[in-house]
Amino acid sequence: MKIAVLASGRGSNFESIAKAVKSGKISGEIAVLIVDRKNIGAIERAEKLGVNWIYVDPYGYSSREDYDRKIVSILKHLQVDLVCLAGYMRIVSEVFIESFPNKIMNIHPALLPSFPGLKPHEKAIKYGVKVTGATVHFVDNGIDTGSIIVQAVVPVSPQDTSSSLSQKVLELEHRIYPQAVKWFVDGRIEIKGRSVIVKNANYSTLPIVPALEDF
Ligand code: GAR
Repeated sequence: MKIAVLASGRGSNFESIAKAVKSGKISGEIAVLIVDRKNIGAIERAEKLGVNWIYVDPYGYSSREDYDRKIVSILKHLQVDLVCLAGYMRIVSEVFIESFPNKIMNIHPALLPSFPGLKPHEKAIKYGVKVTGATVHFVDNGIDTGSIIVQAVVPVSPQDTSSSLSQKVLELEHRIYPQAVKWFVDGRIEIKGRSVIVKNANYSTLPIVPALEDF
């Protein structure tokens, strides 16, 4: 199975998936990392890990759709089966979504549907929630509205700042994202309307649902 990752920044989630592939936990290959910005951590990480990366300059296209057409053509050429958005800070157009139905995942650092979009940690603290977390979901036409695959919960303390919270949530992101990719690659994900079911998974009372198995 061929996996592509799209990133715009630091690239720590990209690395967590790439390392899981490299170690053999995920039986697939990372076909490419696509970035929409130069000089970012994700590129450095790709070079260290020996992953092929491509920069697609968003200013070279007159619309979001044209830009996505270019990306889709690269992904189709590489025969990619699964696209993982990992800190990719662009909204993907219908052109992209229709080319990879139920094959684009995203990670968002909040318990969706709470705090979609930008600055979720700031919003969580401002709102005063007592737990937050991370969500891996399929991408649909809305912003962070697609079907949820797995969520992990993190308690919020009165001392937390958006940076301490983002650090705590990130540690769990690095576990749930490769896990979701592995479930997909192993053919265990079933989609029923809005509901995503991981076959034979443990839907227990743990703060990560379904329970992690490999990460
Ligand atoms: C991660 O926390 C990810 O959940 C978030 O950006 C960060 C990227 O970090 N994504 C979003 O906010 C998307 N709406 P990374 O570049 O180190 O993976």
